[in-house]
Amino acid sequence: MICNDQGTLNEMIEAAKNYTQFGKVADYIPALQLANNDTLSVAVYGGGKSCMKAGNIEETFTLQSISKVITLALVLMDHGEEYVFSRVGMEPTGDPFNSIIKLETHTPSKPLNPMINAGALAVTSMISGRTARDKLDRLLQFVHDLTGRKTINFNENVAKSEFETADLNRSLCYFMKQHGVIHDNVEELLDLYTKQCAIEMNCEDLAKMGYIIANEGQDTETKQQIIPHDIARILKTFMITCGMYNASGEFAIRVGIPAKSGVSGGIMASIPHGVGIGIYGPALDDKGNSIAGMKLLESLSAHYDLSIF
Ligand code: DON
Repeated sequence: MICNDQGTLNEMIEAAKNYTQFGKVADYIPALQLANNDTLSVAVYGGGKSCMKAGNIEETFTLQSISKVITLALVLMDHGEEYVFSRVGMEPTGDPFNSIIKLETHTPSKPLNPMINAGALAVTSMISGRTARDKLDRLLQFVHDLTGRKTINFNENVAKSEFETADLNRSLCYFMKQHGVIHDNVEELLDLYTKQCAIEMNCEDLAKMGYIIANEGQDTETKQQIIPHDIARILKTFMITCGMYNASGEFAIRVGIPAKSGVSGGIMASIPHGVGIGIYGPALDDKGNSIAGMKLLESLSAHYDLSIF
């Protein structure tokens, strides 16, 4: 069983670590360049006190694109499916996460899915709240509910570093505003989005969020339904079809587990009705996914037969 086989996890992480040398930490957000290229850590959470960990597990990292899953859950809870999917689509793009091209070539120019940057910005613009601070507080409260850790916050340096250099995301916002997809003040929206992306945690926290999504949105200990069942299903489906960007198809074949990556090197994986996995390995491949993290998930999937297909 994956949850009590520490020896196998140790062996797999050592083997996967060798792949960090073939990847590179993200540098388009200057603060992310400070990460250690060689590091890799993992937590596997199976509910209650059952958590297995390996690697440099004290390290914390920012969620980056993994936050897109969380904000999508929140806005679906705020507004319902019909409204949310009238403003953002459900189809994979096959393009890099920050691409603008489909906004221009598709009519109407609503973003194709909530896991690419354009779609995620549209989703963030739907978070309910009277002020920007209310919206951020609601998001943080939701993360506290999912992880059970009330001290989780965003990393100000990383948020600032991204805000100051986010001109591509600014362009996506202005394009969408021109076409009526969003109506926000772009600087305010980017401020919230970059703080959302900078929410900081460790692998165990990430594995816990993955576990709730894996288990139909329920905290199996307290029986609290943190995310409605149907929304948890939608999240896992997007994780499979779009979670690893334009590597999602290959990942579905090689690994077959709903997962979401971020350019910090995090990956959150949710095995339906099973464990949540949180990985941190900042060396990225050319598509922006943790190179060693993907290898580790591939080994885990093969060894424990975890593919859902
Ligand atoms: O918007 C951005 O570019 C980043 N805050 C998040 C991108 C990201 O994590 C893409 N992941 N692989």
